[in-house]
Amino acid sequence: MAEQMNKLILGDNLEILRNIAAESVDLVYIDPPFFSNRTYEVIWGDSGEVRSFEDRFSGGMDHYIGWLKERIIEMHRILKPTGSIFVHCDWHADAYIRVQILDRIFGGSNFVNHIVWQRSSTHNDTKQGAKHFGRITDSIFYYAKNIKKYTFNPQHERYTSDYIAQSYGKTDEHGRRFKASDLSAAKGGGDTSFEWKGVKPPTGRYWAYSKANFELFESENKIYYSETGKPYLKQYLDEMPGTSVDSLWFNCVFKNQKERIGYPTQKPEALLKRIIETATNEGDTVLDCFVGGGTTVAVADKLNRQWIGIDQSVQAVKVTEYRLNAQNAIFETIKVTDLCTQ
Ligand SMILES: C[S@@+](CC[C@H](N)C(=O)[O-])C[C@H]1O[C@@H](n2cnc3c(N)ncnc32)[C@H](O)[C@@H]1O
Repeated sequence: MAEQMNKLILGDNLEILRNIAAESVDLVYIDPPFFSNRTYEVIWGDSGEVRSFEDRFSGGMDHYIGWLKERIIEMHRILKPTGSIFVHCDWHADAYIRVQILDRIFGGSNFVNHIVWQRSSTHNDTKQGAKHFGRITDSIFYYAKNIKKYTFNPQHERYTSDYIAQSYGKTDEHGRRFKASDLSAAKGGGDTSFEWKGVKPPTGRYWAYSKANFELFESENKIYYSETGKPYLKQYLDEMPGTSVDSLWFNCVFKNQKERIGYPTQKPEALLKRIIETATNEGDTVLDCFVGGGTTVAVADKLNRQWIGIDQSVQAVKVTEYRLNAQNAIFETIKVTDLCTQ
């Protein structure tokens, strides 16, 4: 499977991964069974179709870790040197997955982040009498194939209204919100001790810009003067990228009910959008070999990435095909095995 085009493949991912060329994929995202020992079901549509997903492993944690590990070995092989992996899991096995699989295969030095994702809906596990806090977060482990080379596009999100009210409380004559930013600096150099409209830098400090820059700011109406005449730089809210995304993700939720396609354990598109935009550029290849209801490949397609989606469930592939066709995606479906039982 050397040439690349969008593929949706039905079958056990281990065999399929083994047939994918080494160093051919830019991003792997997986949301495998979590070792939760549960059956997830959604009753879908007017016909009452039961869409289900089994997360049951006999043989205990060792068996589960061995099962996942042999697959992650292949994922590591097919990633390009600039590629990375995001492994989505939860409290049932996250510690084991990080230490016994990812640190060993990718190496602890290629660890990038432990992302804590707050699910949109809480599981009802804090019923009366429960002796633990509500378990409302998942873990997403982010590893680079090579920490010195991996693709990373910083992400931003909107400032909170509290932060805007606190920091961008001023408005100009056009109603644009801005922050009055200090124009002095602890260190100087060159032309930074001049007097500006009768004001010198505070004692022991310098201006952060040269006089030529002050004149430029003035001509652009970018200097704000306090009541005492002290100059500040206007930083407009609408020119700011927003706050840098950190490792606590609580805004990646379902946009509305229409986004839900009725696949149990479906993840929100906003979550995959952030991951794909962080770790790839247009034209890159994204792989999800536990594709379920197809969130990863649907979002990859919308973002003009190439993609490969794999699932062993006939139902998952059917739902994903339907979803991709609804957004006019171009892809081929390949059936690798007839032994699928789900
Ligand atoms: C948690 S769901 C993925 C949900 C998906 N992220 C979404 O947004 O819809 C896990 C999926 O992995 C699939 N799966 C489990 N074992 C597999 C295997 N060995 N090969 C391929 N798919 C597998 C299941 O059929 C299920 O659809």
